[in-house]
Amino acid sequence: MTSMPESVAPRPDGREVTVRAPAKINLHLGVGPARPDGFHPLCTVYQAIGLYDDVTAAPAAAWGVDVEPVGDVDVADVPLDDSNLAVRAGRLLLEHHGRDDAAHLSVSKGIPVAGGLAGGSADAAAALVAVDRLFDLGTPDDDLLALAGELGSDVPFALIGGTALGEGRGELVTPVADHGAWWWVVLPSGEGLSTPAVYREYDAGHPGDTERPDALLAALESGDPEQLAAALRNDLESPAFALRPDLPGTRATLEATSAAAVLLSGSGPTLLALARDAEHAREVVGELGDVPVLYAPGPVHGAHVLAGEA
Ligand code: C5P
Repeated sequence: MTSMPESVAPRPDGREVTVRAPAKINLHLGVGPARPDGFHPLCTVYQAIGLYDDVTAAPAAAWGVDVEPVGDVDVADVPLDDSNLAVRAGRLLLEHHGRDDAAHLSVSKGIPVAGGLAGGSADAAAALVAVDRLFDLGTPDDDLLALAGELGSDVPFALIGGTALGEGRGELVTPVADHGAWWWVVLPSGEGLSTPAVYREYDAGHPGDTERPDALLAALESGDPEQLAAALRNDLESPAFALRPDLPGTRATLEATSAAAVLLSGSGPTLLALARDAEHAREVVGELGDVPVLYAPGPVHGAHVLAGEA
């Protein structure tokens, strides 16, 4: 029998913890001019939707990661070295506690990669919670949120989930009232889009602003899909469309369905269509024919333990 690499070999006690974290969409993405540190000030409204990555952490002699696709998700571009955001998250948390343990992370990926759905951020958030539980670290929530903010602008939101206002560069999150049971049709793109490239294109002349989106916040409180449809906005849509001339045509295809509204997800290229309810989401999927498409409810919970306590 060939032996497994040391980092993959299960420990004799078989301890492992699995944590699930959701994809995010931005119902409002207001972007201001670049700050001196190169990041852009945001006023965004995040919503966690029911597409998930699961991260299973097990103690190991050295850090390692493997990635399994769920369904049609293409995982070819996910790094499997120390640059993987889940590995960086696990290491950062153990360093924070002054420990030199290591873990192997197995990622089961249901969130399309490089799509503007923050799948890498979901993995980082899940890894923070999984490694915390695995080694019984008892990290206070505020410390987890601060570490998450160091890892990436969207990682704190993946921890809290639900619907939240994001400020700063997106890392300062505050839950907001959301009385809707929303349904989204999610149209991934075969090819990813680089977030820094979209922000550079924004800098080249697609100004937005960081005003508080009062109409959108009122629509969320109302729970009315027509109100929400009228209030959705994404300042990265024009720059993403400038980089990807195929996207306006895809948007038009979605607009030709009975969906209430169409929106670019984050920095793209995934496009979203808002449905009135679950049945209508299935109808919109049917109207799209053979196009590979997903649908998901929102809001859903942030990173949470699925199985296995240390
Ligand atoms: O924070 P995160 O690592 O996810 O950001 C990825 C990249 O997106 C940054 O390096 C930056 O180019 C861009 N970004 C930005 N302003 C933000 C968030 C991200 O310019 N508020």
